[in-house]
Amino acid sequence: MKILVTGGLGFIGSHTVVELQNEGYEVVIIDDCSNSSEKVLEGITTITGKTPLFEKIDLKEKSKVEDFFKRHADVQGVIHFAASKAVGESVEKPLLYYENNIGTLVYLLKELVAKNKASFIFSSSCTVYGQADEMPITESAPVKQAESPYGNTKQMGEEIIADTCKVNANLNAIALRYFNPMGAHPSVQIGELPIGVPQNLVPFITQTGAGLREQLSVFGDDYPTSDGTCVRDYIYVVDLAKAHVLALKRLLEGKNSDNYEVFNVGTGKGSTVLEVIKSFEKVSGKKLNYKIVDRRAGDITTAYADTTKANEVLGWKSQYSLDEAMKSAWNWEQKIRG
Ligand SMILES: NC(=O)c1ccc[n+]([C@@H]2O[C@H](COP(=O)([O-])OP(=O)(O)OC[C@H]3O[C@@H](n4cnc5c(N)ncnc54)[C@H](O)[C@@H]3O)[C@@H](O)[C@H]2O)c1
Repeated sequence: MKILVTGGLGFIGSHTVVELQNEGYEVVIIDDCSNSSEKVLEGITTITGKTPLFEKIDLKEKSKVEDFFKRHADVQGVIHFAASKAVGESVEKPLLYYENNIGTLVYLLKELVAKNKASFIFSSSCTVYGQADEMPITESAPVKQAESPYGNTKQMGEEIIADTCKVNANLNAIALRYFNPMGAHPSVQIGELPIGVPQNLVPFITQTGAGLREQLSVFGDDYPTSDGTCVRDYIYVVDLAKAHVLALKRLLEGKNSDNYEVFNVGTGKGSTVLEVIKSFEKVSGKKLNYKIVDRRAGDITTAYADTTKANEVLGWKSQYSLDEAMKSAWNWEQKIRG
């Protein structure tokens, strides 16, 4: 069964390609390498013993997307990771984000609705909840006004898919709302490769630990949390990748109860920034150089998932602890720093 993975050379995409190939799916990757490298293919091949098909295509080029689906009419499912994801950059360059995250989604959906049957998995985010009123956050928590154009593309993306599913019974879709993905494959063959200053906490920590960055700034220690720092739900990327395979199977096997469904993907456990730092210090045996600075505009206090729906409906549960995920992230950082 042939599955298209867009953004399959990226952080979460590459781990998902590995899990798909391990399950026997034939994978074709589309990636323009705007935030990744073709070298990732070697890592995937080393882990799985199989090189996925790869086409270097920019999904913003509609004619190339159309041409791809003509040549790969046997694609039965699409997992759509390709997007721009830097929140700060999205504020500076909103049109780039709307074009890359919304335009490309529309082009893909246009191709899929023309098929007799198609399954579609979308990378959404817990950012759609903003600062939720209740913890843990269930899928029925209200979607709040987006804080950035990036966040808005995830909300709009979900709405576009829901609207399209309403009038296209042949299209079956699942949006997975990720909490905070982290870590690297245990083989240390693939992992997160941030270009420039990392946007996420964990690669910033590991780069600081490796001496690439002098100091980590912890934004605020006066939040109403156990130690005053912000709380997030850190999900190991291999666990997250497995959730995609289960979601896709649900659609391919026609087990979905609606043709558009939404699932949270997190651990269900919140960790403060200082707990994440402690985890790094524990697994690396290194002291991290960090300082507490003022709060950062736009940061919410707490977000962690209620994962009951994914546990019960998808039969998925996160397996790895924060320390195990952190260890993999640190091993990866050491490997790429040689
Ligand atoms: N990493 C996170 O913290 C996080 C959290 C929630 C949601 N997400 C979403 O998950 C998805 C994957 O995130 P990631 O962390 O793996 O990001 P990533 O940047 O590592 O991967 C995205 C991949 O898509 C490719 N790409 C981007 N635009 C493209 C285009 N126009 N045509 C073809 N390829 C293109 C990039 O080269 C990259 O390889 C994104 O949609 C992101 O918004 C990520």
